[in-house]
Amino acid sequence: MLTSLTLMDVQNLENGALAAVAGADSADEIERVRVEYLGRKSELKLALRDVRDRESGMALNTLRERLETAIDGREQELRRAELDRQLTQDVLDVTLPGEERRLGSLHPTTLTRRIVEDAFLGLGYEVIDDREVETVHYNFDQLAFPPAHPSRSHRDTFFIDPVRLLRTETSPSQIHVMEGKKPPIYMVSLGRVYRRDAPDATHFPIFHQFEGLAVDRDIKLADLKGTLRHVMRALFGDERQVRFRTHYFPFTEPSIEPDVSCPICDMRGCRMCKYTGWIELGGAGMVNPQVFVNVGIDPEEWTGFAFGCGIERAAQLRHGISEIRPFWENDLRVLRQF
Ligand code: PHE
Repeated sequence: MLTSLTLMDVQNLENGALAAVAGADSADEIERVRVEYLGRKSELKLALRDVRDRESGMALNTLRERLETAIDGREQELRRAELDRQLTQDVLDVTLPGEERRLGSLHPTTLTRRIVEDAFLGLGYEVIDDREVETVHYNFDQLAFPPAHPSRSHRDTFFIDPVRLLRTETSPSQIHVMEGKKPPIYMVSLGRVYRRDAPDATHFPIFHQFEGLAVDRDIKLADLKGTLRHVMRALFGDERQVRFRTHYFPFTEPSIEPDVSCPICDMRGCRMCKYTGWIELGGAGMVNPQVFVNVGIDPEEWTGFAFGCGIERAAQLRHGISEIRPFWENDLRVLRQF
């Protein structure tokens, strides 16, 4: 005979448990039902502990088995239902093609820089990457800037202290290279330069330049022009015309400025070329003998040319970008177009 539970009680317990199982509609709830009816402190477990006879033991044990089966079954059911819900509601269509992963791309400044590097590597030039913090000595004095030149002022140049500054051009590389080795020298130096310009459509306080220097015997202005035409062709294609205007730089004599026919409007006149059909690309000239003397190269024996051009300016022309600011804003909508 059942001791603490009568047969009636067993029947009631089973009915209650099965109703609870059927009513459970989450993993949490079915777990609660399991604890309530099969846990260590459940009525059934307590009754099993008190069992004295075989008949009650069998009755209670088969009840336990039935409840376990019912609870496990319900749990499975709930798990399948949850999976079904996820499959339909989370609308994961496994037949859709995967999401495309965007690859990064090179910045337009880098793309243009590489074209210049390749063009000069092809001519046998050494490509160098120089320091951006310079001294007055290298940025101005050695390049034969006169003492009162406006670039030397705090208004135009970022000084770190009275001696050190952020280079205003890549030209100090000429000095470092000439101090470091004897001619013949063929080098191009690319990198950032700094000027205290207020940012607007065409100015930004940081930009990139490439600087070229060739020092050898019997180098002539015609060699400089040919070299500049070579890099212009690499940058802007065969169609463009190149012209040279005379100019002044302290470290070259004579000095010239190369212009390229406007690739944006093909010389019909546009905002970019200020309706002149031509775009100025930088400065150049024959190395001033004074600069050779400053670095201990004999100007009677050696001649040379140098040139410096803006990389963003070249990139703007290559890609038809009318402003310089996008080069520094890192707006992905812009950068993804390259
Ligand atoms: N450094 C000059 C500039 O930034 C360009 C230049 C380089 C001119 C080399 C002559 C020779 O304007």
